[in-house]
Amino acid sequence: MFQRGARFIFSRASSTAAAPAKNCNKKLYAGAASVVGASGAAAYMTQQRPDKTLCDDLTAGLTGAAAGMILGGLGGYYFTSSTLSPKVEKYEKYWPRKCMMLFGAPGAGKGTQGPRIVDELGIPQLSTGDMLRGAVAAGTPTGKKAKDVMARGELVSDDIVVGIIEERIKDPDCATGFILDGFPRNLEQAKALDAMLAKTGDTVSKVLAFEVDAQLLEERICGRWMDKASGRSYHVKFAPPKTMKLGPDGKPIAGTMKDDISGDALFQRPDDTAEALKKRLKEYEDKTVPILKYYGPRGVVKMINGGQDIKKVWSDVSTSLV
Ligand code: AP5
Repeated sequence: MFQRGARFIFSRASSTAAAPAKNCNKKLYAGAASVVGASGAAAYMTQQRPDKTLCDDLTAGLTGAAAGMILGGLGGYYFTSSTLSPKVEKYEKYWPRKCMMLFGAPGAGKGTQGPRIVDELGIPQLSTGDMLRGAVAAGTPTGKKAKDVMARGELVSDDIVVGIIEERIKDPDCATGFILDGFPRNLEQAKALDAMLAKTGDTVSKVLAFEVDAQLLEERICGRWMDKASGRSYHVKFAPPKTMKLGPDGKPIAGTMKDDISGDALFQRPDDTAEALKKRLKEYEDKTVPILKYYGPRGVVKMINGGQDIKKVWSDVSTSLV
C-alpha cells in the first residue's frame, strides 16, 4: 500500500530537500547546547552555598537545569541560525537542481515507487494524472475539459499539462528538485519541459524508465483500488487492504475494500479497465516511448526492470538515485 495522490497535496506544504538535514543539524546543535548549558548552570548553582542541604541541592540543581535549558536553547538557536543557514542557502543556490522523471507504461510502478523516492530524497513527486484527477473531482474548468478524455484513456491537451507543471515547479518545495510522474507524455511536452527548465538554467538530470511486460500490466491495472482522499493505492493480489474479503466468485467484495488508515471506501479509477488500458498503452507506445530516444543521448536514462517484486524494484531504484 502506497500513498500517491497525497504526494501532490502534501508536497505543497513540505519544505525543500535541504530542510531535513538542516532541521536535523539544528536539533543536534540546539540539543547539545541545552545539555551543556543545563549541566553548567546546575553545577554552578549547587556550589554557591556552603550550608546547602540535599533538598537545596535538588532545588538548585533543577532550577539550574531549567535555566540552562533556556539559555542553551537560545544559544543553540543563535548558533545554528547564524552558522548553518548560510550553508543551507548556498546549497539551495549552487547545488544542481534534481529534475527527475519517472517513465513507464500504465501500471509500470511509477506511482508505487515514487513515494519511496520522495522519502529518500525529500523532493516532491508531481503527478499530472493526480493533478488532473484532482481538477476533475473539484469540477474546475480544466477538470471539465479533461474528464471524458481521461476516461477514454487518451491524452489531454499539451497546453493544459504544460501550464500545470510550469506553475507547480515554481513552488518553494521544488527549489532543490522534483520528480515528474506522467509528464512529459510526448515529444512536444518534452521540448516544452526543456524550455521551461532552461529559464532557470536547469536540465533533466535523470529518467528512471520502468520496463514491464505488457501481459503483467492488465492484471496490475484491473486489480488496482485507490483511496480518493490520500491517493493510496492497493491491489487485490499484490497489495490488498487489510479489510478485503473475497466473494464466492473469488473477486473482492466492494464493501470490504477500505483504506487501511482512514477506513474510507476505496474506488477503482474509471480508466482502469481492460478496454481503456488498450487505448492508454497505444498512446504510450505511439507518443510517449519516443521520448526515451530524445533523452537517451544525454546519458540520463536509467532502465529499471519493473516486472520484479515491488521490494526488488525499489532496491534497483534506490541504487539508481545516485
Ligand atoms: P496517470 O495517472 O499518469 O496514469 P498512467 O501513466 O496510466 O499510470 P498509472 O497511474 O496507471 O500507472 P503507475 O505506473 O503509476 O502504476 P502504479 O504504480 O499505481 O495518467 C492518467 C491519465 O491522465 C492519462 O491517461 C491521460 O489521460 C491523463 N494525463 C496524465 N498526464 C498527462 C500528460 N502529461 N499529458 C496528457 N495527458 C495526461 O501500479 C499499478 C498497480 O500495480 C498498483 O495496484 C500497484 O499496487 C501494482 N504494482 C506496482 N508495482 C508492482 C510490482 N512490482 N509488482 C506487483 N504489483 C505492482
